[in-house]
Amino acid sequence: MATLNLVLMGLPGAGKGTQAQMIVDDFDIIHISTGDIFRSAMKNETEMGLKAKAFIDKGELVPDEVTDGIVKERLSKDDIAKGYMLDGYPRNLEQANALETISSELNRDVNAVINIHVDPEILVKRLSGRFICRTCGATYHKLYHMPKVEGTCDVCGGHDFYQRDDDKPETVRNRMDVNMKMNTPLVDFYEEKGLLHTINGDQDIEDVYKEIKSILDKL
Ligand code: AP5
Ligand code: MG
Repeated sequence: MATLNLVLMGLPGAGKGTQAQMIVDDFDIIHISTGDIFRSAMKNETEMGLKAKAFIDKGELVPDEVTDGIVKERLSKDDIAKGYMLDGYPRNLEQANALETISSELNRDVNAVINIHVDPEILVKRLSGRFICRTCGATYHKLYHMPKVEGTCDVCGGHDFYQRDDDKPETVRNRMDVNMKMNTPLVDFYEEKGLLHTINGDQDIEDVYKEIKSILDKL
């Protein structure tokens, strides 16, 4: 297949961002994380960022019209011609239908959906140990994925790390509930289209990636 147009889905903490980093290194496609876009807008205190913050801080979804608009704008750019990977979008059926319209208008239809499946109880533990490089956004974990040199980011050499505000235990619980409700209809939607590939996300980071890569290599 000439162009890879992917959707990466999975509950909070399933490893979307972690795997996305490895996928873009190998496949040279554009990584679009709606969560990253919102966090950057919040940091810059843009109007959209301030609007999104009220929802993100509670673990709720940002309204569809805002999120769909961001994705439409990003997918319209020229660099997308080499392929894209959506991380954390779509998250409900309304967004999945919006993406159908947007991608077909642009002639950039999704050709595979990777669903990283992990038991929700494991995910709560993962999110409480996550920390992120402030300079480049690389993601680590206190138990499962430490930088090779303690205190130094593997990717950019930065020394400043932070924890996400929405990784507080009470917010994590709500994020999990909100996302679990929407996940099954979304899985069914892509299964019916014949696009779904479900991966076991409860294995070492490298082994999860091996499964994903073997699917992408065959597309
Ligand atoms: P978003 O940023 O997308 O958050 P999320 O979906 O909750 O997912 P995360 O980023 O928390 O997890 P991840 O799957 O990327 O896992 P990671 O690789 O970091 O969205 C944030 C918020 O923005 C939403 O709550 C919502 O408000 C809003 N939003 C975003 N998109 C939206 C949309 N489409 N519509 C409406 N609102 C939207 O890994 C997690 C941790 O586990 C890390 O520490 C990592 O090192 C570790 N880890 C990863 N893989 C493994 C492994 N295999 N074994 C052990 N540890 C692992
Ligand atoms: Mg993420």
